[in-house]
Amino acid sequence: MKKFPHLIAPSILSADFGNLNATIDLINSSQADWFHVDVMDGMFVPNISFGFPVMEALQRRATKPLDVHLMIEGPERYVEKFRALGAHVITVHYEACRHLHRVIHQIKETGALAGVAINPHTPVSLLTDILADVDLILVMSVNPGFGGQKFIYQSIPKITELRQMCMERNLFPFIEVDGGIGPHNAERVLQAGANVLVAGNAVLGADDPKAVVQTLKAIGQEGFKSMSV
Ligand code: DX5
Ligand code: ZN
Repeated sequence: MKKFPHLIAPSILSADFGNLNATIDLINSSQADWFHVDVMDGMFVPNISFGFPVMEALQRRATKPLDVHLMIEGPERYVEKFRALGAHVITVHYEACRHLHRVIHQIKETGALAGVAINPHTPVSLLTDILADVDLILVMSVNPGFGGQKFIYQSIPKITELRQMCMERNLFPFIEVDGGIGPHNAERVLQAGANVLVAGNAVLGADDPKAVVQTLKAIGQEGFKSMSV
C-alpha cells in the first residue's frame, strides 16, 4: 500500500504552440497534478524550446502548479525571474551548476520548491551531499533536449538506489522521472520508488490525452490492470 498517491506532470513541450491555450485547458481539466515546463537554451542541450512569454501564458491560465525544468547553463541567472512568473518548482541540472548548493538555496529563498536533475550518465551517488537540501530529485530517463525519445531502462535501478539513499537518511523528497514514460513502463518506474511521472508525447500525442492521464494516475489503485512490458 503506497503512503502518498503519485503525481502526473504532462510536459507542455509536446503541445501545439499555435494553440497553447487549448493544451493548458486540457491539462487544467484532466487529472494531472502539475504542468511540466521544459526550458532549453541550445547550450546545455542541443535544442531551444521556449522562455518567458510561454511562462507568462501559463501563469495567466494554468490552474495547477508549474514544475519548471531548467535545461540551461548557469540557471542561477534566471531563478528569480521564473519564480516571479509563477514557478512553483524550479529544477536545475547537477551538470549545469558550478555551485549547486548555492543555487538550491537561492531557489528556496524565492519560496519555490528546489529540485536537482541528473542526466542518464550521472550516478545518483553524486547527490549524497545535496540530498538533505532538495525538495525534488529529477532522474532523466532520456538524454535531455527532445520529447518523444525512448526510455532508457538503466534509469530503473538508479531510481531504486536513490529511494534507498533517501530512506537511509529519513528524507522524503519528490522523486520525479522524465523521458519516454507512458502506460507501458510507468508502473515499473513507480515501483522502483518514483512518485512524480513526467509524460510528454504519451499524453499530448494521444488521441485522448485525458484518458492517458487517467490511466497513469490509476496505476497501483484498486482495480488497476498491469500494462508493464
Ligand atoms: C526532455 C524533457 C522532457 C520531455 C518529455 O528533455 O525534459 O520533459 O518533454 O517528453 P516525452 O515524455 O515525450 O519523452
Ligand atoms: Zn523535463
